[in-house]
Amino acid sequence: MELIDGKKTSEILQDEIAQEVLTLKDAGGKIPHLAAILVGHDGGSETYVAAKVKACERVGFKSTLIRFEDDITEEKLLQSISELNNNADLDGFIVQLPLPKHISEDKIIEAIDPRKDVDGFHAVNVGRMVAGMPAFISATPFGILELIRRYKIETAGKNCVVIGRSNIVGRPMSILLSQKGFDCTVTLCHSRTKDLKGICQKADIIVAALGIAEFLTADMVKEGAVVIDVGITRVKSETTKSGWKLLGDVKFDEVAPKCSFITPVPGGVGPMTIASLLYNTLLSSKKEIYK
Ligand code: GUN
Repeated sequence: MELIDGKKTSEILQDEIAQEVLTLKDAGGKIPHLAAILVGHDGGSETYVAAKVKACERVGFKSTLIRFEDDITEEKLLQSISELNNNADLDGFIVQLPLPKHISEDKIIEAIDPRKDVDGFHAVNVGRMVAGMPAFISATPFGILELIRRYKIETAGKNCVVIGRSNIVGRPMSILLSQKGFDCTVTLCHSRTKDLKGICQKADIIVAALGIAEFLTADMVKEGAVVIDVGITRVKSETTKSGWKLLGDVKFDEVAPKCSFITPVPGGVGPMTIASLLYNTLLSSKKEIYK
């Protein structure tokens, strides 16, 4: 069994991005600039956005954090997005989700200029991704593909089971793995799937992205399978200093011995998502997606 080290791989990818920034700078080019809108004070969102800003510093990007209280109107937020769309210095921006209930996330995402949608959430980017055209691909699927590439995991003709059909992870993951270059035979499973256990038992690759802690157990996994764990559920713990620990969607201790490759939680898929966002921002600054 080989552990897929997402933390190390993310650092390597970030170092490569930092190197490109230096090259851009030396050539007198523009420094990539990423902005993030954070609404309210959700603990998870605060942590994620702080990590994104810190990562920008690490690779030499310019970053801008725009904060609003959670009683901001949808109209005001749309106005801010319009300003960012028109800000020529910005290569990309994200609106951290979730948003307060009185604001429509769909409306907000649709208001972002697809050319600056480095989260890859806008329907134009999703559509282009489905069509196999250049597109900003959302960070988690992109990060997983990068781990698969860098660990040289064979995918052609393999049976791949994706558990979870979210717009951000499961659905794009299932499409990308079926595309030319990855060439998997993909089954996308969800809460209404019948005989999930039987389907998983036939899988060469399993991507668990359903958001239920320790859902995937050893009896569901065949010997030699590749298991990618997207889950991050925070649970109380008496054994950690903080009093909390993170659990994935995979019962790691019993599943790992059966795997050829497996991602741990934490330190697997999670760290890759930030590197992917930076990578999309770099692509945007180099006009490599939208010419
Ligand atoms: N909330 C949780 N993950 C993400 C993400 O990747 N992007 C944004 N904008 N919000 C999130």
